[in-house]
Amino acid sequence: MVETASAPSAADGDGAALVNPLRSGLESDRITDPCNVVFFGASGDLFKRMLIPAMYNLRLEDIMPSNFGIIGFSRTEYSDDQFRAYCKDNVDQFSRSGLAKDPMWNDFAARLSYISGDFTDAADFVKLKSLLETNDSKLGTQGNRLFYLSTPPSVFPLIIDQLAQAGLGPKDGAAGWTRIIVEKPFGTDLQSARALQAEVEKVFDEKQVYRIDHYLGKEPVQDIMALRFANIIFEPLWNRQYVDCVQITAAETLGVEQRGGYYDNAGALRDMIQNHVMNLLALVAMEPPVNSDADSIRNEKFKVLSAVRAVGKDDVFATTARGQYGAGVQDGTSVRAYREEQDVAPESNTETYAAVKLFIDNWRWTDVPFYLRSGKRLARKNSEIAVRFSPIPQRLFGEASDTIEPNVLVMKIQPEEGISLTWDAKVPGPKNHIRAVSMDFNYGTGFGVVSAPAYERLVSDAMRGDATLFTRWDAVQRAWQIVMPILEVWENTKDASFPNYPAGTQGPPSADELCKNWRKI
Ligand code: BG6
Repeated sequence: MVETASAPSAADGDGAALVNPLRSGLESDRITDPCNVVFFGASGDLFKRMLIPAMYNLRLEDIMPSNFGIIGFSRTEYSDDQFRAYCKDNVDQFSRSGLAKDPMWNDFAARLSYISGDFTDAADFVKLKSLLETNDSKLGTQGNRLFYLSTPPSVFPLIIDQLAQAGLGPKDGAAGWTRIIVEKPFGTDLQSARALQAEVEKVFDEKQVYRIDHYLGKEPVQDIMALRFANIIFEPLWNRQYVDCVQITAAETLGVEQRGGYYDNAGALRDMIQNHVMNLLALVAMEPPVNSDADSIRNEKFKVLSAVRAVGKDDVFATTARGQYGAGVQDGTSVRAYREEQDVAPESNTETYAAVKLFIDNWRWTDVPFYLRSGKRLARKNSEIAVRFSPIPQRLFGEASDTIEPNVLVMKIQPEEGISLTWDAKVPGPKNHIRAVSMDFNYGTGFGVVSAPAYERLVSDAMRGDATLFTRWDAVQRAWQIVMPILEVWENTKDASFPNYPAGTQGPPSADELCKNWRKI
């Protein structure tokens, strides 16, 4: 479909006669095979806040195939009608498109069904199989199946095994394709990740496995490739000769909320650095792929992660900083310390802030530090990648040279979505003053659209069989290998300084020793 002024898309909303010139003429290639999507863990938080609203929005945007079925599977008792009502409540509450309205909702709801099932009970998976077959004949879903594991990770192996036992695996001769989406975390360390992978491999081939990292579905993250490889001007500078350092930040203002039980066994390194931040590192540092297909891109991501220099256990303290928030003030409100959060141990040694300095030993990046940091209860929500270029080699402007700042290219991921480039300019006037100025691009105002939540893109890609924005096993394994020495040293040494940063601040002072010129969060 080609968007034209006379054919506004559903997403354009009321009165959308005007088409943004930056978007006109775009082809929609989001056509998907008929299929069933089965959500394990359909009574959970992720399903209600993200997944069911995402499915409904895909329908509104005409991205769902014409023939589809959605099946919820979890322990809570619901009839099909009660499940539909539950989905509607959640769409009403959490969807970016507002209240679910008929006739679209009615048509969508008719394709929803539910199995109140126990993951340990083989009979419930037999029921699932028969419901899928019924949907194939009633809804025309042609035997194509996408299973989505949005349960606690402890039951992933069990569900995979039950699928195989029930004859629902991809090798079981069904007419269509079978794929599985696995939510994060994929393991809690290298060993458990390998054990999970061994279970996955018994039933699924790698090309049928879609490991979610929702950061990869964020629009500005997808745009990193376009920025780097659809423009000629950056690539010649994108190397050790011109880049002084790269800073990758994923800062949050939220604390651990209701997730203390999970988080106290995870910490910032596992929760954010090993997956989201490592994926950003791979995208910003990889070589240009030979092709834009999933494997060419994922080959390059894996290659660059392979070149990350191993952190020796003796170097851990010199190349990392960890922190835990104490009580403080966040947006004008007093908030409690991490150790006082629900389900957190009173003497917890878990880090809520992690910063790591890594080097990539390859031709392009040797000796350029990559600083990665992530934390909760920081001053501002801010995820970004900043490429800081080298200082100029000559003091051409005498004293005015003192104020010259290095150029910085910032890819802003959230909450602002955009790109900014700072450079130095002469301040107008008789004196020779030089000051950093910036050129800013904002996706929202630039393209005149609000970015869709990452899950919409990711689920629709999995339905289409496009694995580009999912993490391949070799990269997951490599990311665990990179963080393992740090995890082990941190777990085995109590940090007596905890809590070492008040909520609402920039993080622990030790982080400033690691990197002298952090950008302000
Ligand atoms: C999740 C982490 O993967 O990402 C959470 O488990 C974190 O702890 C969340 O809050 C951050 O996601 P976003 O999209 O809000 O940056």
